[in-house]
Amino acid sequence: MNEQEKINAALKAVSFVKPGQVVGLGTGSTAYFAIQEIGKMVREGLEIRAIPTSEATRQLAEKWNIPLTDINDISTIDVTIDGADEFNSRLQLIKGGGGALLREKIVASITGTQVIIADASKQVEKLGAFRVPIEVIPFAANVVTRKLSALNGEASLRAKNDSTYITDQGNNILDVDFGLIDDPAALAKALDHITGIVEHGLFIDLADYVIVGKGDQVEIIA
Ligand code: 5RP
Repeated sequence: MNEQEKINAALKAVSFVKPGQVVGLGTGSTAYFAIQEIGKMVREGLEIRAIPTSEATRQLAEKWNIPLTDINDISTIDVTIDGADEFNSRLQLIKGGGGALLREKIVASITGTQVIIADASKQVEKLGAFRVPIEVIPFAANVVTRKLSALNGEASLRAKNDSTYITDQGNNILDVDFGLIDDPAALAKALDHITGIVEHGLFIDLADYVIVGKGDQVEIIA
């Protein structure tokens, strides 16, 4: 994990943001740098409206006086800048390490240009070393855990400060070890059909670009 690589990727990504656009703001330590930079651009006169993907990001955006809008009042988002926990050369992602995968995926689903930013440590040949975060309603946590076993997934209920982790929606997160995933798209489809899963952290066909910081360079994968 390299902070300068995150910063370099974030600085490159904000060049995708144009005046008048609706902008999705991602969650996490890499998105943080992009939000900070967008805040500076707003201070210098850039007019945008933004949609935060988490309460943490909402607070950060408010701190920077970035004008926010309600996702229910718009039909499309022009560009979203977000992080990832893992990505591969096919722009398939694992997201949700920060627990915001549900809003992140909703935002991505109506975004024209989805820009993912990451340091080089996030690039993998095969997804799956990072466990797949899955948001479940608390009522169904054990039901879903058993169904995941049938897919060879070993689920652990996420905890924070000795308590069960609660998402912005009041749900829980299962972190699921599937081993290295041969076919992320097929696994995503299977997860889509498990009742009790609200959303999972496999992002397939959603990213348009991954901007990856590599040393003092950035590489754009499209
Ligand atoms: C939050 C996410 C983040 O984008 C992901 O966890 C990457 O975070 P970071 O940039 O801090 O490594 O999906 O739900």
